[in-house]
Amino acid sequence: MRSQIKKAIIKAVLAKFSNVILPDFSVESPENSQHGDYASNIALILAKRLKRSPTEIAGILKNELQSHLPAKIEVLPPGFINFFINRENLCENLKEIIKKKEKFGAFPKKKDSIIIEYSSPNIAKPMGVHHLRTTIIGQSLVNIYKFMGWKVLAMSFPGDWGTQFGALISAYKKWGDQKKLKQNPVKEMLNLYVRFSRMAEGNEDFADEARKEFKLLESGDKENRKIWEWFRKESFKDFDRVYKKLCVKIPLVFSESFFEPYLKEVVSEAVKKKVAENGEDKSIVVKFKDGTPTLLLQKSDGATLYATRDLAQMKYRAKKWNPTKIVMVVANQQTLYFEQVFRASEMLGYFKRNQLTHVKFGMVLDSSGKKFATREGKLIPLEEVLNESVKRALGVVASLNPRLPQKEHPAPFTNHAQKSARYSKKVREQIAEIVGIGAIKFFDLSQNRLSDILFDWNKMLNLKGSSAPYVQYTYARIKSVIRKSKEKPSNKFKPDILKEEPETDLVRHLMHFAEIVEDSALRYEPNRIAEYLLKLSEKTNYFYEKLPVLNSEKEIRSARIALIAGVSEILKSGMKLLGIEVPEQM
Ligand code: ARG
Repeated sequence: MRSQIKKAIIKAVLAKFSNVILPDFSVESPENSQHGDYASNIALILAKRLKRSPTEIAGILKNELQSHLPAKIEVLPPGFINFFINRENLCENLKEIIKKKEKFGAFPKKKDSIIIEYSSPNIAKPMGVHHLRTTIIGQSLVNIYKFMGWKVLAMSFPGDWGTQFGALISAYKKWGDQKKLKQNPVKEMLNLYVRFSRMAEGNEDFADEARKEFKLLESGDKENRKIWEWFRKESFKDFDRVYKKLCVKIPLVFSESFFEPYLKEVVSEAVKKKVAENGEDKSIVVKFKDGTPTLLLQKSDGATLYATRDLAQMKYRAKKWNPTKIVMVVANQQTLYFEQVFRASEMLGYFKRNQLTHVKFGMVLDSSGKKFATREGKLIPLEEVLNESVKRALGVVASLNPRLPQKEHPAPFTNHAQKSARYSKKVREQIAEIVGIGAIKFFDLSQNRLSDILFDWNKMLNLKGSSAPYVQYTYARIKSVIRKSKEKPSNKFKPDILKEEPETDLVRHLMHFAEIVEDSALRYEPNRIAEYLLKLSEKTNYFYEKLPVLNSEKEIRSARIALIAGVSEILKSGMKLLGIEVPEQM
């Protein structure tokens, strides 16, 4: 509807003010529903350009628009045009939802393609909470862009190359305890690395040794290669376990080491194209004209860097996929770095600067605002955090519904693959899994991407707060009402039946779903969807409070069941875009 209004406005402006260049204007859904379902500032903008009164212009446009839109149109001082969509059309939208279910709102397939790079953990250590946000936000953007009709290349760029692996190999050769390594490979790798780093402080010999081992690895030394491959294999197994828990799938994995054979070529290309030059020593650097700090491409000893691999990766992506856009979901800390890499990519002719976006995000801190780590300052494995959340969710679910059947009726899952995977567990545990994992994801996705988030279990799992369990419970409750009604939601109701304020308010809110998804894609902000779903849940609970469903007169009862069924579809779809499941009971 929003795009229909936009188009109608453009037409009206061209018809009535043919001498003016079409300006940028907005069509938004006002906070206050008394101002209609949509409001536009077009008249205010035109008034400035034409030096005429905004209300006069609004009046002219209103008359022109009136016959083209299914809405009551009003002019509000100082010159806003407000649109009140007709009840029939609002109800038409609800009927569409009931008919199309999860396909409702999905955009037609586009030709555009987008690479979304996310997660990209580093091998030889457990995935930590700092990789939580990139993984969750990235997966949600993948879902959202698919829904928007884009061809999405979901990709990860794990860190598995660089001198630190020389250090690790050296530590492994010195102190590697096979038994411990077999038992808990990744944790032990981290221990070895930490021990090496401590020893290396104030002792140059260690750094030399690390460099030597990495050189050997680079030149293909059999032993070092074998050790490194084992690090890699075990690390990827570890990541996969976490991904499975998070229901995250990243089909394309191109780790840093993959680009090793392309590095020399990229450096010499940069020199040849005069994008890079010799630095003070024999290093090779990219200098920028506008004061952006210089980017090091090759050290004086010939060693390449993270940036070299990123440029090689850019070249590879341009050649292999030539995507319309690339999005990198990486923490705030790398802002300057990506600015350098993006500019260098443009100078090298791989991409235009505006095709590349760094989707950045703040840190995860503990509830007192300090770094999220153990008391000794050590990394907390993500897997432990996920398990803790599921454990706590079990308490929430148990308190909510102590008599939850232990048998599989009805199936608590909406996602069938998940269902069979977890079929053998008791229902309550299955629901706790959905709630616990969902709570963490929602907590992240519902907040402003750029701010740091304070990890707070109580908020995350609060059934009455801005949380996944709140939305999930709203969904489960609707499902339970529909089951009790023994009625199949039907779209045969008459529009003028849904006329109480809490009903119309819900029907209206449903109309904005696809627009919200579009906005969240455009700005890479899944939190817009999360906020929308919270509001939808609030409105639904308000509706329950005010109006009976099961105990109302037959025709009204059916219409209300249709209404909540529509809400449940949108809750499910929206949560799916965030990568969160909803339970059929809770
Ligand atoms: N592995 C890096 C890290 O954990 C993130 C990689 C980001 N992506 C990139 N193309 N540089 O910090």
